[in-house]
Amino acid sequence: MKSLNTQGARILATGSAVPELCVNNFKISEMVETSDDWIVTRTGIKERRVLTGINKSVVDLASLASIRALNKISMDPLEIDLIILATSSPNDLFGSASQVQAKIGANKAVAFDLTAACSGFVLGIVTGAQFIQNGSYKNILVIGADVLSKWTDWSDRSTCILFGDGAGAVIIQSCSIEKNGILGFQLNTDGEKSDQLSIPYRNKEKNQTISICKGEFDFIQMNGKEVYKFAVSKVPLSILTCLHSLCISPKDISWLLLHQANERILYAVAERLSIHSSKLISNLHKYGNTSAASIPLALDEALKNKRIKDNDLIVISGFGAGLTWGTVVIKWKC
Ligand code: ACO
Repeated sequence: MKSLNTQGARILATGSAVPELCVNNFKISEMVETSDDWIVTRTGIKERRVLTGINKSVVDLASLASIRALNKISMDPLEIDLIILATSSPNDLFGSASQVQAKIGANKAVAFDLTAACSGFVLGIVTGAQFIQNGSYKNILVIGADVLSKWTDWSDRSTCILFGDGAGAVIIQSCSIEKNGILGFQLNTDGEKSDQLSIPYRNKEKNQTISICKGEFDFIQMNGKEVYKFAVSKVPLSILTCLHSLCISPKDISWLLLHQANERILYAVAERLSIHSSKLISNLHKYGNTSAASIPLALDEALKNKRIKDNDLIVISGFGAGLTWGTVVIKWKC
């Protein structure tokens, strides 16, 4: 969708953070019946990072990624007007963004969580851009961070091989309309299929006096095959619709940055769009599926490696639980 903008918005800086503990496929194969060969062939993942430490949470990773982004442009945290923390693994069900606000000293910022699983970062960028493009705010910190290791059943080989922990952050700033870098977006939700991928809440006990049920969250439940089919069929359509609305052809794209779920999904989506695989940005062999963190983590790495240049067109797509999926098209402005 194209918006009627009064202001431009552009990504000014990125930062990322991953936990120290690296768990490779060989280590996983000591825990469940699997092999490095099976995991690499089916997913492309070789290792992932896992957060350890009794007091460590998504807040620590999100804050570190944010501070790294701020430091890159020597920005005072007090200049941040809004913090959007995209996460599905908060440290507090009431939200973790306020804890990040306090930890990084962004005391003037409004802060809230956004829950949309692996699409969370795309929705965060789109939400943040609205506040800038309509003139409400100047500097917005959008963070994608997840510690799905806490919600993974480490005895379930069909899911525990996939996920890792991490965080990525971007600072979006207002700019002249001519320099606008967030060109357009296309978003979708299909709640009918929410059971294909979820961390369900299960009621257990019943309070006898007033019939209130008290339960707990389960581990990640996933229908891998259906999620795979959903991703390779719906994501290309979202990208094509978004590009069409902007009168951009897939052949003009510099980079395709998809949620890092599975290498086979990345290649299949690129192939359906006739985009050469050399334009895929991918680092999931090192981090696995880090949910809302995967896109900003890969973006930060691609910038560090100087792959992305001024005026490059980047197509970013997220997809996952909800089911949710969506695309945002960015023109990179140095
Ligand atoms: N090691 C060895 N064997 C395994 C493993 C494992 N880790 N896991 C499953 N198998 C076995 C199965 O039991 C099955 O055996 P069987 O044929 O005897 O029944 C066989 O391997 C094939 O299993 P499938 O589930 O059919 O394997 P598939 O090729 O579909 O790959 C995978 C599974 C990798 C999960 C794939 O379906 C996938 O990547 N789906 C997308 C998942 C995804 O991206 N999820 C995240 C979405 S983002 C978000 O919102 C969190």
